[in-house]
Amino acid sequence: MGDAKDADPADIIDIPNFDNPAWGKTQQGAMEMKCHYLYITDNLLDPSHVAWVHLTSFAGAGTDNRPLALEEGDDFVVISRWIAKEPAPPYYAQMLPFGDNCDRKQHYECRTPSTAINMSIYTPPGEGGADKPMSENAFINISYNFITPVDDETSLYFWFQHRNMFADDTAIDEKMFAGAVMAFNEDKEVLEEVQTGMANRKTPYLNLGLDAGAMRFRHKVAQLSAAEHPRDADPRAPIWRGRATPAWPCPLPGP
Ligand SMILES: [Fe+2]
Repeated sequence: MGDAKDADPADIIDIPNFDNPAWGKTQQGAMEMKCHYLYITDNLLDPSHVAWVHLTSFAGAGTDNRPLALEEGDDFVVISRWIAKEPAPPYYAQMLPFGDNCDRKQHYECRTPSTAINMSIYTPPGEGGADKPMSENAFINISYNFITPVDDETSLYFWFQHRNMFADDTAIDEKMFAGAVMAFNEDKEVLEEVQTGMANRKTPYLNLGLDAGAMRFRHKVAQLSAAEHPRDADPRAPIWRGRATPAWPCPLPGP
């Protein structure tokens, strides 16, 4: 999007281990979502949505109720949680060698303006946790999501997945790719309904505690936008869907 001469290759994120032969990759995926791109980043800062939206892939015990941690810097927000000693969800259960239960980390990270790094970590039970160094037995799968706005109601969603085991297993490549396509189509269905529902809103905004990461990220994007467009520096000026910028903390701006 925008003028190519304004693009700075230095802004492209680093992907650790991209050339490491011990890591495996899925093919790249792409899809159009008929929604504003910040609804996609909202979703990718909400680890709990899997408990409702992805019942046959990423949902699992604890994804709806274990405590969440928020970490942020100037250009990123991370929402994460560890889930101890529970069965792996269907998407991962077949490939993990850890027995009936495992420790699981959901790491949901967005970097401004619209890159989402979604890391799933599984360890043998007892080896995971925020207070422990990363287990050398950990299985790590990182979903890199590159979201490109087209207009206020359309976004392009590019992604691939990168894992630290089974590097040359093409059956796993294909299974993980197909599973992700299925799950991302579930997101697409919900997010396109969110677009429609929010455009025809009939009730006040109600933000929950689990929306904190998405709100912090929107605040950072709003600040970046205001810095690039001085006419928007006034916090009352429109910068998101023609509506006023929210001060933090407060609900999303209404019409
Ligand atoms: Fe999702």
